[in-house]
Amino acid sequence: MPFTLPELGYAQDALEPYIDTETMTIHHGKHHAGYVSKLNAAIEGTELENSSIEELLIHLADIDPAIRTAVQNNGGGHANHSLFWKILNPAGKTDPSKGFMSLLEKNFGSFDGFKEEFSKAAATRFGSGWAWLVKQADSSLKSYSTANQDNPLTLGDTPILGLDVWEHAYYLKYQNRRPEYIENFFSIINWEVVEANFSA
Ligand SMILES: [Fe+2]
Repeated sequence: MPFTLPELGYAQDALEPYIDTETMTIHHGKHHAGYVSKLNAAIEGTELENSSIEELLIHLADIDPAIRTAVQNNGGGHANHSLFWKILNPAGKTDPSKGFMSLLEKNFGSFDGFKEEFSKAAATRFGSGWAWLVKQADSSLKSYSTANQDNPLTLGDTPILGLDVWEHAYYLKYQNRRPEYIENFFSIINWEVVEANFSA
C-alpha cells in the first residue's frame, strides 16, 4: 500500500483540555485511517501508486475523472490530517519567532489581524472544511478556507497551518460551539513547525 497512517507523534490525551482524548482517538484512528485506506483503494493498480501525496493534489486536474473525486477527497483527507497533527503542540502555547511574526505583520497588519482573518475563515466555512494559512507562489501569506477535504496545493498554494472544522474534529467536546474550538486552537499551535513548513 503506497500510503500509510502516520503516527500522531504524541499521546491521544496530550492535547487535553483543548482537544479531548476521545476525539483524537476517533479522528486519527478512524477518520484519518479511513482516508488513507480509501485513497489506496482508489489508486490501486494505477501509475498513481508511485506519486507522492503532494504530486497527486497539485496535479489533481490531470487525474482520470473516474477516480479524481476519490483522490480529491481521500488524498486531501490524508494530506490535511497529516499536516494537522504536526502543527498541534502538546507542550502548550507557543509564539511565532520574531522573524515569522514580522511576516505575519507584513501580510495581515498584526498578529491579531492574522488571528481575526483565520478565525473568520474557520467560523464562516459552511458545513465541512478547513481554514488555512498558506504560502503563495510569491512567498506572501494568505488565509482562507476550503470545502470538504480540498487542499491548497490544488490551488497553487502551500499550506503551512490548517484547522479542521469538520464536526468530527470538535463535536464531542464543543457541540455547536465552533468559535470556542477555533479560539482554543490558538493555545496549541506549534509555530516552530509552521515556520518550518514555510521555509521548506
Ligand atoms: Fe478531520
